[in-house]
Amino acid sequence: MIKLIWKKDNKWKNLFPIFGEHPYLVYLDNAASTQKPKTVIDWVSDFLKNDYANIHRWLYSLSERSEELYYESKCKLAELIDCKPSEIIYSYNSTYCINLLAQALVNSWKLWKWDKVLLWIREHHSNILPRKVLSKIFGFKIEFINEDKNYNIDRKDFEKKFDKKVKIVSLSQVSNVTGQIMEIEKIREKVWENVFFMVDWSQSVPHFPIEINQIKCDALIMTWHKMMAQTWLWMMYLKRELIKELDPLILWWWTVKDVSIDSFSLQNNADKREAWTPNIIWAVSLLKALETIESIWWMEKVREHEKTLIEILCEWFEKRKDKIRLIWNYEPHNRIWTFSFVIKNEKNFNKIWEIFSKNNICIRTWWHCAYPLHKSLNIWWSARVSTYLYNTNQDIKKFFECLDSII
Ligand SMILES: Cc1ncc(COP(=O)(O)O)c(C=O)c1O
Repeated sequence: MIKLIWKKDNKWKNLFPIFGEHPYLVYLDNAASTQKPKTVIDWVSDFLKNDYANIHRWLYSLSERSEELYYESKCKLAELIDCKPSEIIYSYNSTYCINLLAQALVNSWKLWKWDKVLLWIREHHSNILPRKVLSKIFGFKIEFINEDKNYNIDRKDFEKKFDKKVKIVSLSQVSNVTGQIMEIEKIREKVWENVFFMVDWSQSVPHFPIEINQIKCDALIMTWHKMMAQTWLWMMYLKRELIKELDPLILWWWTVKDVSIDSFSLQNNADKREAWTPNIIWAVSLLKALETIESIWWMEKVREHEKTLIEILCEWFEKRKDKIRLIWNYEPHNRIWTFSFVIKNEKNFNKIWEIFSKNNICIRTWWHCAYPLHKSLNIWWSARVSTYLYNTNQDIKKFFECLDSII
């Protein structure tokens, strides 16, 4: 039986059974993945007990019901990000998606040695590595835009590197290391229409609502396990014209109109990209996660709670600035509740991780899949603390008590 607890300082914590099972748990690794609410857990279990069947080939009501819920989750999402359900493609996670998209672009646009891809130095490895591998094969160049001294995109460097050779610009809107929010619309203004503009929204997802039309991107990648849904559910928005233009890399019967011994013809819609038995269970969990968020807080409310915790974190980190180097600044603006830091003169990150872990506090240490950023800052590791809607002032207090005992 699931135990639920009542925490006076944050009633939302009660919705997450893990805190009932582990009342002393301080979970501060939310940038990696969030915990799941009871609604999502129960819903998935009910769905599996009552409604589950494979979809896209239904001749019976169980399959029809699964199909309905699958598309309902796409409709809910489309409402959230202001696009059409037919522009949404589901797959496993951001990494898988960026890999597939990187390959599709190279295949369909025939990137060659005179072409360039522009990335930002702080990108997650999943946005860097697939392009590195492909550039080795096809010879196109990858250039990294540097950060300025305030950790913003270095505009002069951008203007120097952005030229007619650039075919793809791919950036994350929020850094998974600094927690800084980039003004993606301003960069978009500088990127010409004929350049493929991809935005990695993985770290932005839990924090604020978006309207695709405002960003005017060609593709947007999101990963939903960072917002209460199950793991292995990624979503890509791809502009309708591009769904037609880019050849899929993985083919299956659902992706084709016709196959014969000599030829085949492809579907022209988002389904063309979902070349597999989809993550039906995960899609249904997302539907429930979105409904839960809608019923309790909706995004603006998440942001309100976030602001309070950010202010405390900024203030408390600043008090320790002679002992700690925070990666980015102590200002509560333009950031999410993710903070990375280094303890000055401390080389052994394993020791730090172990002490936090022994105290039941979950944080992350290492490079957070952002080697280039760490190298550019001359840092070999950092510790990261990231909160979510169930975290309380008390959690933050415990974290700083532990940190103080280390420093
Ligand atoms: C900015 C960013 N992009 C991509 C990813 C990869 O996401 P996933 O683990 O869902 O593949 C992450 C994961 O932390 C991330 O922070």
